[in-house]
Amino acid sequence: MSKSDFGLIGLAVMGQNLVLNVESRGFQVSVYNRTTSVTDEFVAAHPGKKLVGAQSLEDFVQSLASPRKIMIMVKAGGPVDAVIESLIPLLDKGDIIIDGGNSLYTDTERRDKWLGDLGFRFIGAGVSGGEEGARKGPAIMPGGPASTWEVMQPIFESIAAKAEGEPCVTHIGPGGAGHYVKMIHNGIEYGDMQLICEAYNIFKAAGFTADELGQVFSDWYAGDLESYLIQITAEIFKQKDPETGKPIVDVILDTAGQKGTGKWTIMNAVENAVVISTINAAVEARILSSMKDKRVAASTELQGPKSEITGDKAALVKKVHDALFASKIISYAQGLDLITAMSKEKGWNLDLGKIAAIWRGGCIIRARFLNDITDAYRTDPGLSNLMLAPFFKNLLNEFQQNWREVISMATLAGIPVPAFSASLGYYDSYRAAFLPANLLQAQRDFFGAHTYERTDKPRGEMFHTNWPDVIG
Ligand code: 6PG
Repeated sequence: MSKSDFGLIGLAVMGQNLVLNVESRGFQVSVYNRTTSVTDEFVAAHPGKKLVGAQSLEDFVQSLASPRKIMIMVKAGGPVDAVIESLIPLLDKGDIIIDGGNSLYTDTERRDKWLGDLGFRFIGAGVSGGEEGARKGPAIMPGGPASTWEVMQPIFESIAAKAEGEPCVTHIGPGGAGHYVKMIHNGIEYGDMQLICEAYNIFKAAGFTADELGQVFSDWYAGDLESYLIQITAEIFKQKDPETGKPIVDVILDTAGQKGTGKWTIMNAVENAVVISTINAAVEARILSSMKDKRVAASTELQGPKSEITGDKAALVKKVHDALFASKIISYAQGLDLITAMSKEKGWNLDLGKIAAIWRGGCIIRARFLNDITDAYRTDPGLSNLMLAPFFKNLLNEFQQNWREVISMATLAGIPVPAFSASLGYYDSYRAAFLPANLLQAQRDFFGAHTYERTDKPRGEMFHTNWPDVIG
C-alpha cells in the first residue's frame, strides 16, 4: 500500500471530522486512536475512502510518507505530552508534529523547543469551527517556524474554510503564536456569546416569546450583525424540546461551563497590563452563572426592582441592536489590543490584518464585520485601537446614545448587563481626556509618599506634598 500523506492521532469528534476533511481533498490519511476499536469502527464506517487504520503507533508511523506529518487531536495538557513522548522514539529527524488542540501557548513554546532540540519540527495550530467546521472547513491558526509552515501549507490551505476566496489559514508567527491567537479568538468568542445572552435577557424581560426572539435574531443575521453566533442563536430560539414541546432554551439550566481558554486570556491580559473588560465580564458571568444555588438563595434575600421592561418592541430591538454592536466592537478592539501588546512583548511581529482575515470564515467568531476589521488593518497596519478606525468610529458615535439607554434601562430594571456595561465603561474611559486619577495619585502620595506629576509642570517631574497627620 502507498504511504499516507497525513496522519492523525485522536479520533474524538474533531479528529474524525478533520480526517474526513483532509481525505476529501485528495490526501490519503492514516489514523490512530489509543482505544483501537474506535479506529476500526471509524474506518469501517467510511468504506471506499483513502483511510489507513493503524493498530499500533509503530504501524501508524510506518504508514506515513516522509517527512511525516502527524496531527495530534487529544485533550490539552498532559495527554499531548504523553502522545509526543511515545512518538519521539519512532520518528525521523525532520518529521512534523502538529498539535491541533486548544493548548496553552506556553506549553506550545515548551514543546517547540523540546522537539526542535531533538531535530523534529513542531506546529502548534489553533483550529476553530467546532464539528461542522472541522469537517467542512475550519479556520486554522498555525504557529511555528515559517519553513515548517511552508511544508504544511498545501494541506492546511486545502482543508481550511474560504472567505472572499482566501483560505482561512495563514502562518501566524513563531513558537506559540498560533495557539496564542486561538486563545484570544476564544476570549472574543466568550465576549460575543455573553453579549448575545445579555440582549436575550433584556428581550425576555420585555416579554418576547422564543418565536419572536428567533425572528429578531434571524433579522439581525440578515443585516450588519451577521455572524455565525447570531445565526445559531436564531436557530436555538426556534428549536422545541421534544419531551415537553416547550422552546428548548426554556428547559436548559442557566449554568454555563467553561474549559479554560477564557480564563487564560484574562490572565495574559493582566500580565500585559491590557484592558479586556468585556471578555473579563464574560468569563465572570459564566462563573456567576455556575453559582446557581447561591443565586437562588440570594434571590429572596437581596432586593431589586421588578425585572420588567415596557415600551415599543420594535424600538427596543433597534436600541439593543446598537448596544450589542457597539459592545462587540469594544470586545474586538480589546482582544486585538492584547494581541498587539503580546506581539510586541514576544517580538512575534503579528499581522492583525491577516489574523482578522482568517477569522472571516470557518471559526466560531466569523462575522460580516470582520471584513471591516480586515480592511481597517489593511489600510492602517499601525492602527492604535480598532475604535479609531473611521468605519468603527462612525458606528460608535452613531450607536453610543442607544447603548447608554439600553444599559440604563436594564440597570433600572435590575437586569444584569455586565458585558454591555464593561464595554461602555471602557469606551467612556478611553475617550476621557480627564480621569479622576489625580485624586488617586494624591491618595498614594498621602499614605505612601509615592509622589505625583503636576498639570502645570513637564511630564516626568515628580512632586510630594507634606500631608497632615491623621492618626491621632
Ligand atoms: C472553537 C471553539 C472550541 C471550543 C471551545 C469552547 O473555536 O471551535 O472555541 O475551541 O468549543 O473550547 O470553550 P468552552 O468550553 O470554554 O466554552
